[in-house]
Amino acid sequence: MAQFQSLPGFREFYPDALARRNHIFRLWRQTATAFGFQEYDAPVLEPLELYKTKSGEEIEAQLFNFTDKGGREVALRPEMTPTVCRMVGAKANALKRPIKWYSIAEFYRYERMQKGRGRCFFQLNADIFGEAGIEAETELISMLVQCMTGFGLAAEDFYVRLSDRNLWFYYLETLGLDEARIRAVLGAVDRFEKLGDDAFKGYAEQFGEIPADLKAKVLAFLAIKSLAELENVLAGVTSDKLAARLAEWRRLLDNLAAMGLADFIQVDLGVVRGLAYYTGFVFEAFDRKGELRALAGGGRYDNLVGKLGYPDLPAVGFGMGDMTFGLLLEQRGLMPDVSQGTDIYVVIGGEAERKAAFGGIGALRAAGFRVEYPLKDVAFGKQFKAAAESGAKLAIIYGGDELARGVVKIRDLGDRSEHEVPLDQVGAMVRDYFAGPAE
Ligand code: HAM
Repeated sequence: MAQFQSLPGFREFYPDALARRNHIFRLWRQTATAFGFQEYDAPVLEPLELYKTKSGEEIEAQLFNFTDKGGREVALRPEMTPTVCRMVGAKANALKRPIKWYSIAEFYRYERMQKGRGRCFFQLNADIFGEAGIEAETELISMLVQCMTGFGLAAEDFYVRLSDRNLWFYYLETLGLDEARIRAVLGAVDRFEKLGDDAFKGYAEQFGEIPADLKAKVLAFLAIKSLAELENVLAGVTSDKLAARLAEWRRLLDNLAAMGLADFIQVDLGVVRGLAYYTGFVFEAFDRKGELRALAGGGRYDNLVGKLGYPDLPAVGFGMGDMTFGLLLEQRGLMPDVSQGTDIYVVIGGEAERKAAFGGIGALRAAGFRVEYPLKDVAFGKQFKAAAESGAKLAIIYGGDELARGVVKIRDLGDRSEHEVPLDQVGAMVRDYFAGPAE
């Protein structure tokens, strides 16, 4: 008979894998809390409409969507941003500003499977609402960096590419392009790294072949890799909007440098982000070796709350996935042994000693220790083998002779030393042991 298997791209987490995932989530939560973000949660299933046109063509094509039994068009969430905008928009007046929220949740996209990309994945989402200035970008980009340095990764391991859709818009305006053409050019810029010249096919289909001089200017602009180069290219261009925007760039880069993050930041106008709602600064994190797909992505999206029918609210945020990030940690040897172990293994002499052992086991568990024991009577030798394999630090031995004298044996499974301890002192002795200096 055929054996059942999970759907392609859907992940099962066996205990060791779940322990690694939990380790990542725990440190992400620690960082989010350190930055003063509050955690929220939201539905997995949403009205399809929430993503139509709001998220952009790429995500729309990847939706897991269906009609529910009530005839509603629904979709598994491919991202958090539209949902969190709806939640914040609905209560915007009641929420204290700036609104700094984060969540860790699972998302679904029908993507072609490849290394670091699945059809379900987790993201940390962090977003700030109600702050129109670059102070919000400063806060989020520094949080994004700490979400990785918190695991021991350094500037040699990853970097954040920083770009700006406003700057692109203003620049292309000075070249005489209307909004539709600008959007088509940005679509090409977004795909250029992957597709090369083919990225301009979409533009050609809408507006005819892109003029050679325009294309050359676009390619030169997307190759910009520093503020100095940017200032150089724009030196001959007169535009008040561009001048004001350059001032914002300087302030943001100064802020990030003051936070000690200069080594992590790379100006890179080749990044524009595929999602439809971004309006200003955008950023993506990558591994330095360029072996993995994006680790995280985000940016400013000042119009999305308004597009969902609520009063406009400026917003910036990022999403960071668990898959590429997990691979990077493994590659760099930064995933610690986080297997779900045991503190104490209780060895039981036989059926007669079981009741006495149960009392002790219950008390230790109630005190919060992780305690295991053999569910069935087995030979001492097997029990000690199980104790060693369980990863426990201590074995407590309930033997008939000892119990008759009102004691148990406690064995340190590390140095194999053994002591007899009166039954009423086991709890105190175990507490002392585990509270002792870490090895
Ligand atoms: P995104 O760039 O689509 O942005 O995704 C952010 C991150 O989620 C990616 O960099 C990647 O780590 C992870 N990710 C995305 N798709 C997959 C996949 N199929 N498999 C594994 N990991 C994946 C957003 O989702 C925006 N909503 C982020 C945001 C929040 N913008 C503002 N606030």
